[in-house]
Amino acid sequence: MAPASSRRRPSVMAALLCGIVAAAASSPAAAAAAAAGGSSGRGPIGTNGRNYTKVCDPARFAALGLAMSAFPYCDASLPYGARVRDLVGRLALEEKVRNLGDRAEGAPRVGLPPYLWWGEALHGVSDVGPGGTWFGDVVPGATSFPLVITTAAAFNETLWRAVGGAVSTEVRAMYNLGHAELTYWSPNINVVRDPRWGRASETPGEDPFLVGRYAVNFVRGMQDVDGGAGGAGGDPFTRPIKVSSCCKHFAAYDVDAWFNADRFTFDANVQERDMIETFERPFEMCIRDGDASCVMCSYNRVNGIPACADHRLLRETVRDQWQLHGYIVSDCDSVRVMVRDAKWLNFTGVDATAAAMKAGLDLDCGMFWEGARDFFTTYGVDAVRQGKIREADVDNALSNVYLTLMRLGFFDGMPEYESLGVNDICTDEHKELAADAARQGMVLLKNDAGRLPLDPSKIKSVALVGLLGHINATDVMLGDYRGTPCRVVTPYDGIRKMAATSMHACDNGRCDTAAGMGIGAVVTNTVDATIVIAGLNMSVERESNDREDLLLPWNQTRWINAVAEASPSPIVLVIMSAGGVDVSFAQNNPKIGAIVWAGYPGEEGGTAIADVLFGKYNPGGRLPLTWYKNEYVNQIPMTSMALRADGKHGYPGRTYKFYSGADVLYPFGHGLSYTSFTYASSTTGASVTIPIRAWEHCRALTYKPGTSSPPACPAVDVAGHRCDEAVSFNLTVANAGAAAGDHVVAVYTAPPPEVGDAPLKQLVAFQRVSVPAGAAVDVPFTLNVCKAFAIVEETAYTVVPSGVSTVLIGDDAVSLSFPVKIDLAV
Ligand SMILES: *[C@@H]1O[C@H](CO)[C@@H](O)[C@H](O)[C@H]1NC(C)=O
Ligand SMILES: *[C@@H]1O[C@H](CO)[C@@H](O)[C@H](O)[C@H]1NC(C)=O
Ligand SMILES: *[C@@H]1O[C@H](CO)[C@@H](O)[C@H](O)[C@H]1NC(C)=O
Ligand SMILES: *[C@@H]1O[C@H](CO)[C@@H](O)[C@H](O)[C@H]1NC(C)=O
Ligand SMILES: *[C@@H]1O[C@H](CO)[C@@H](O)[C@H](O)[C@H]1NC(C)=O
Ligand SMILES: *[C@@H]1O[C@H](CO)[C@@H](O)[C@H](O)[C@H]1NC(C)=O
Repeated sequence: MAPASSRRRPSVMAALLCGIVAAAASSPAAAAAAAAGGSSGRGPIGTNGRNYTKVCDPARFAALGLAMSAFPYCDASLPYGARVRDLVGRLALEEKVRNLGDRAEGAPRVGLPPYLWWGEALHGVSDVGPGGTWFGDVVPGATSFPLVITTAAAFNETLWRAVGGAVSTEVRAMYNLGHAELTYWSPNINVVRDPRWGRASETPGEDPFLVGRYAVNFVRGMQDVDGGAGGAGGDPFTRPIKVSSCCKHFAAYDVDAWFNADRFTFDANVQERDMIETFERPFEMCIRDGDASCVMCSYNRVNGIPACADHRLLRETVRDQWQLHGYIVSDCDSVRVMVRDAKWLNFTGVDATAAAMKAGLDLDCGMFWEGARDFFTTYGVDAVRQGKIREADVDNALSNVYLTLMRLGFFDGMPEYESLGVNDICTDEHKELAADAARQGMVLLKNDAGRLPLDPSKIKSVALVGLLGHINATDVMLGDYRGTPCRVVTPYDGIRKMAATSMHACDNGRCDTAAGMGIGAVVTNTVDATIVIAGLNMSVERESNDREDLLLPWNQTRWINAVAEASPSPIVLVIMSAGGVDVSFAQNNPKIGAIVWAGYPGEEGGTAIADVLFGKYNPGGRLPLTWYKNEYVNQIPMTSMALRADGKHGYPGRTYKFYSGADVLYPFGHGLSYTSFTYASSTTGASVTIPIRAWEHCRALTYKPGTSSPPACPAVDVAGHRCDEAVSFNLTVANAGAAAGDHVVAVYTAPPPEVGDAPLKQLVAFQRVSVPAGAAVDVPFTLNVCKAFAIVEETAYTVVPSGVSTVLIGDDAVSLSFPVKIDLAV
């Protein structure tokens, strides 16, 4: 196994990412202690010293002076439940408590090794965390896929699952090599409620349904054992999983640091309707439909209660209602945050530990803090001794975490994956998948007069202008929660394969000066095309850093306009960012012919950008969030959590579902193509009669003023209904242009127009299809009435309204709609 010296030390970056910014800055000693593995007196633990791939190996026990046969927890013929009971039952309270934190110490006395729970794999295997996953010697890097916001823009569920599958294969290979553990705290599925949120790059965007479908597919890609055992059926509590995936951060977490608001002290004031309709929805899908084995609770409070101590959120909702098969972990230091930052109820460490565990938290991730450890490990024994929790609560938490490790084959091995090794990491296939994800996620925002694609037979020379960090991006494309990539293909690398390319870096104000702009003119006059790459980077939008405006920073607007002005032909503008950027200036400037949003496209991003600009790939991505004009941020504080417009304060609504104002630059779902599509359908309408039986509940609805007489049964509560009604239709998508292309069909529903306070429309289905030039494909849809036509009424019941709802397909460029009449027959 790897000698300790070759081990990459956990970086201070990891500490920063986990949120002890103040500590790292104010206490170098604490940061150093954290980097050195704490001051608990133990040496480094985890994979670095791990020389086994399964716990229950007789030779391993023999080396510890133990006979494995004396430990029923290693008896593979017993059910997992019995084995876990045996294991937990062998531990003294002190030993138990030392395994309640992310750096679980194990119990050598009974053959239980240490385990480092903290892993990150947001868009590829990452080494962020305390060292359980690390690069060096035989594993120098892993495939770094595009940031999630870019992959989400592909609107392709097959792609999302394939990325999860490739990541988990690399994890398994690294595990076999002693370079990784098996538990990963990805994906991040908080909705981007506000365009300023710093962590948009990590997420699939602003729509709860889209975010939920991303979660389901990524989690299934990570967790499902290929072929057979991983499928449905069997006992969900013992279903084998390839790698454990974790949906985070639960719940209503999407303020990081915005003026005086910060995530450690932020108390999200959320109405129950928004909770059900927006904040909880992706998590419910992730657990119920993705069967994720982990949920992470967040730092913030929700209506006064810290999320990690909220019995209703954790035990009642996640575990009982949604039936989590797995464990609940805290965001790193959430329990300490209750005491240190939120000063919640003046709790002591013992109080916070007891409250969190009783609420349903199983594992406490804690930063090392001036030598201290996570709170569960530190205060767990006292919490039991003082009678604030029972030892049985500790046993229950441990059972949840060990059951997860059993399912991962940590104890028994997992033959399916034991042959994976170095040759399964950074494969050509995975790099191509990373390039494909980036290509599929590119969004063509503007394309006047067919400025794109550039014709490689005519465009022989290109000037590439922008900050070096964008045009020769080795870092910006990788975003946060990265690992070490296999390699990086920069935009310059990609574009110069298509045409002779000269780079003109704008750093240090070089493009701001008259001389600089003069050079710009010379440059743009001597080439066939000018490509500007501009945008943001992680110093503008990242964890612990929300945006204050939606503008391009660093004078980019000024010099982009100057370069455009100097260029004899309209320039091409590529934007790197996660959140929307107010590029109205470029949309309105005829000298800027085309705009492409490249997101943060990962290690193969340069190839994808060049393929799109030169027409080797016809872009089909769609914006997963609304791009507002900058005025939006002056209308509503980021800390206001409500999604619906608030007339009393003059706040506009949020996201495409509720914003009806004029300050949208590009709507959710916007994305052009090098070809054009048309729709046809034989369906012109549908009607559904739902018989309301005696035991089913009719609910009242809010109607718009002036609505005459509401029906006898305004809406049916889906919780009490069988929900087997469906509306099916076929859509024919024809490619009317000369280029083959992908098209995303987005299907929305809008509730009956008389219903008040409802979403303008909501995404209920989508499908990306490839259509050859001049051809047509049929796309079938079946919408479950309870899922697709339901709304959340004022008091947070999910109901199907009586009346005429509308199915809306597509967007401004091509669209089709039909009515669906729903009768509730009492
Ligand atoms: C916390 O303690 C302070 C100081 O003793 C006291 O003023 C405050 O009321 C306490 N707050 C709560 C919620 O108990
Ligand atoms: C561009 O990036 C490459 C690494 O891909 C680096 O070797 C080269 O020096 C960079 N060019 C400039 C002008 O900084
Ligand atoms: C972002 O770009 C700015 C301007 O070029 C640069 O000063 C800064 O170092 C970059 N930050 C990151 C994290 O890439
Ligand atoms: C923006 O341009 C102004 C005026 O030329 C200059 O003073 C300033 O330093 C520039 N800012 C940046 C970040 O380049
Ligand atoms: C959709 O097309 C399929 C195959 O052509 C056909 O079997 C089905 O009946 C069609 N569905 C509707 C609702 O028209
Ligand atoms: C969706 O992604 C998969 C996996 O990358 C790819 O094979 C497929 O072609 C994509 N579908 C479309 C319509 O682009």
